[in-house]
Amino acid sequence: MLYHLLYISELKSDASQDMDTIVQRSRDYNKDHHITGALWFDGTVFVQMLEGDRMALSGALARIMRSDAHHNFELVFFEPAAERIFSDWSMAYYHASKDEQDIVKKFATDNSFRPRRMSAQSLITFMRYLEMARHVSAANSI
Ligand SMILES: Cc1cc2nc3c(=O)[nH]c(=O)nc-3n(C[C@H](O)[C@H](O)[C@H](O)COP(=O)(O)O)c2cc1C
Repeated sequence: MLYHLLYISELKSDASQDMDTIVQRSRDYNKDHHITGALWFDGTVFVQMLEGDRMALSGALARIMRSDAHHNFELVFFEPAAERIFSDWSMAYYHASKDEQDIVKKFATDNSFRPRRMSAQSLITFMRYLEMARHVSAANSI
């Protein structure tokens, strides 16, 4: 049965691994375990959503929580899902692209984007928008 999870955390200033390494290792694990998902990062805050089998997701979650690259971890949900939003067998990484900044603006209140104050449903919608924008820009580049 399909599950999805979403958490919020923040980069630690003394993180021993760089983002390229983290993203690559995450993709390797996720691909091997049929996990799809996305990681959004603005230079400080992470919002990550993952979807897959419950056992596989628990393994990824344990790895994520073990990582000393981030802190102030907040699990927003880990629950059954009707369908996958993300189509890649690994993990999309959104960091500082134009599309992504436009989407962030749509979800901002008082000119700032505060994922910790958003409901689980709005965070899912935010993630859906990111994935849709990725498909649109991929289609435009053909
Ligand atoms: C923001 C963030 C997102 C991560 N996402 C994933 C993930 O999607 N899947 C996964 O297996 N591990 C994830 N991790 C954990 C790291 O990939 C992994 O634990 C770290 O690179 C150490 O790898 P190692 O245990 O092979 O040394 C994440 C870590 C951080 C900080």
